Parts: sequence; C-alpha cells; structure tokens
Amino acid sequence: MATSGPTGFPAPPPLGVAALPAGTFDGNSVLVTGGGTGLGLAIAVEFARLGASLVLASRSDEHLTTGAEVVRATGAEVIAVGCDIREPTDITRAFDSANEAFGMPSVLINNAAANFPSPAEDLSPNAWRTVVDITLNGTFLCSREFARRHLVAGTPASILNVAASYAWTGGPGFAHSAAAKAGVVNLVETLAVEWGPAGIRVNGLVPGLMPHGEMTADIRDNLDRTPNLDVCQPALRVGEPRELGWAATFLSSPYAGFVSGHTMVVDGANWQRRYLTSPPVVSIREQMGRGKFDPCDSQPEG
Ligand code: HXC
Repeated sequence: MATSGPTGFPAPPPLGVAALPAGTFDGNSVLVTGGGTGLGLAIAVEFARLGASLVLASRSDEHLTTGAEVVRATGAEVIAVGCDIREPTDITRAFDSANEAFGMPSVLINNAAANFPSPAEDLSPNAWRTVVDITLNGTFLCSREFARRHLVAGTPASILNVAASYAWTGGPGFAHSAAAKAGVVNLVETLAVEWGPAGIRVNGLVPGLMPHGEMTADIRDNLDRTPNLDVCQPALRVGEPRELGWAATFLSSPYAGFVSGHTMVVDGANWQRRYLTSPPVVSIREQMGRGKFDPCDSQPEG
C-alpha cells in the first residue's frame, strides 16, 4: 500500500485573520521599534487589526512612511516617529510624541536590531559596538523609558523583546548579534521580576525563518545559497511573518496576563534540530566564500 510522504506543518490561516477577539487592544496604543518594515511591521499590523493605535519608531524616514501606510490601510490610527534607539533623548522624544497622540502606549515591542553576517575575526571594534549598541543597549534604554513612565503613572503594561534562538546556542557568523540577543533574553528574565509588582509584564519572542521582502541584502544572500528553504525546516515550510504577529499580540494581551519572564520561540522547532550523524564542519569563512583571514583585509580599527 502506498503511503504519502511527510507533509510538515499545514499552512497558517490567511493574512487578515485576527488571532484574538476583535477589539482586544481597543483604546490602547503600541509602540514598535523598527516597526516600519519586515517583522516589526508584521507585528504592528496584527495589533492594528485588533484595535490598537500604532506608534512606529525608526531611524529611516522611508521605512516610516511606507510602514505607516500599511498600518493605516487596516483602518488603524498610526503615527511615525524618528528615533535612533541608541540615543536616550530620541527615545524620550518618541514616547512624548506617542503620549501626545494617543496617551501612553500600554505595549512596547522592542523589535529594532542591527545585524550582518561576518566571521568574528573580521569585525572591527566599531562594527561590534554598533550591533551591541543598537540591539542590546537600545532595547534596555527603550524598556527603561517605558517602565519609568508606567511606574510614575501606576499603570500596567507589557514589554516584548524580539530575540533570536542563537541567544541560547551561540551564533557562528553572528558573534555580535548572538551575544547581544543573549543579553536581550536575559533582560526579559531580570526585568520581569523587577517590574512585576508594578504590573509590567516582560516577555521575549523568537522568530524562526520568516522570509520577507525587506531582509537586508547580506542576510538575503545567505538564504539564497539554499535552493529550497522549506525542506530545511522540520516543519517542511518556512514561517509567515503574520505567525509572529499573532504570537506578539497574544503575549501582550490580557489573555497572557499571567505570562511574564518567558521567551516564546515561533520557529517550527528549527532551533532544536540535531543530526543523528555528524556532518563535516564547514568554517564560517568558507560558508561565506571568504579566503584565509588577512588582518589587512578586515575592517579598520575604530
Ligand atoms: C562588516 C559592517 C557591515 C557589514 C556595517 N559594518 N555593515 N562590517 N560587514 N555588512 C560596520 C561598519 O563598517 C562600521 O564599522 C560599523 O559596522 C558601523 O556601521 P555604520 O554603517 O556606521 O552604522 P549604522 O548605520 O549605525 O548601522 C549599520 C548596520 C545597521 C549595523 C548594518 O544598518 C543594520 O543592522 N541594518 C540591518 C537591520 C536589520 O536587518 N535588523 C534585523 C536583523 S535580523 P567601521 O569600523 O567601518 O566604522 C536579526 C535576527 C537574526 O538580527 C537573523 C539571523 C539570520
């Protein structure tokens, strides 16, 4: 008797379907850093569908303009604020603008992050510092500003940090980002306890492979080396950005009101994959098509 082959995970419900009851976030606003593009925008859109007003924060005016249009198309109210999350004064200004437009956001999505693949030995000091500064320091500074305002007002709130599974496994080819994301996951656990008594929940969310049109060329090039991304996943399919959005809305909603200090992985179990046999090791330099390390070719000291 013929048996059918493995089929993996079924496709998710279509884009436009909300995962939670209509109006779950009515009367609330949500600030999403890096919310103008990619996964940050996918998250923003799911909050918008559930009644939230959105505040998109980004360094890029172009991203803000296009992202705001996408959110507005759902019928939600949205403002766009220029913000470099490394700069505490920018963050203060962003929350002031948010407050003025909609009242203080009840949800902060720390999504903005810096990243590019590089062998660790090729990273310049400034490249290392830049990624850690945006990804880890920026996440902390936004969380701090958000929590301080809620602590003063005595209002409950939710913070969600977008992390990465290499926070736990290490990330060959991404030493800077992996180290920073490890800090981001650790902050979830620390801040959840510190701010719990004030009614502020802090969780993390790890996306798996969810290709989208706004991935950087570096990351896209890496993915393009694999002809069929679906078969490389235990789920036999890649994820859809909306699947991250649904998880984000749940974790930030009253239905997750007793969930704090938790980092949820939405990656079809890809990060837990191990081989029964040991495939040969291919160095990161080789995987990236780089020749032998030459200090003269790497980034300048700075
Ligand atoms: C080597 C690089 C580099 C690259 C920047 N630098 N890009 N080095 N390879 N591709 C170095 C620069 O030479 C400089 O060092 C330092 O980094 C700072 O660069 P700037 O351009 O001055 O900084 P800035 O504009 O502030 O930031 C650049 C950036 C940022 C870090 C690349 O624009 C960025 O991260 N963009 C991508 C955002 C993104 O897609 N985030 C989501 C990632 S997804 P020197 O020494 O020359 O001064 C994710 C999840 C994991 O993180 C995904 C796993 C696959």
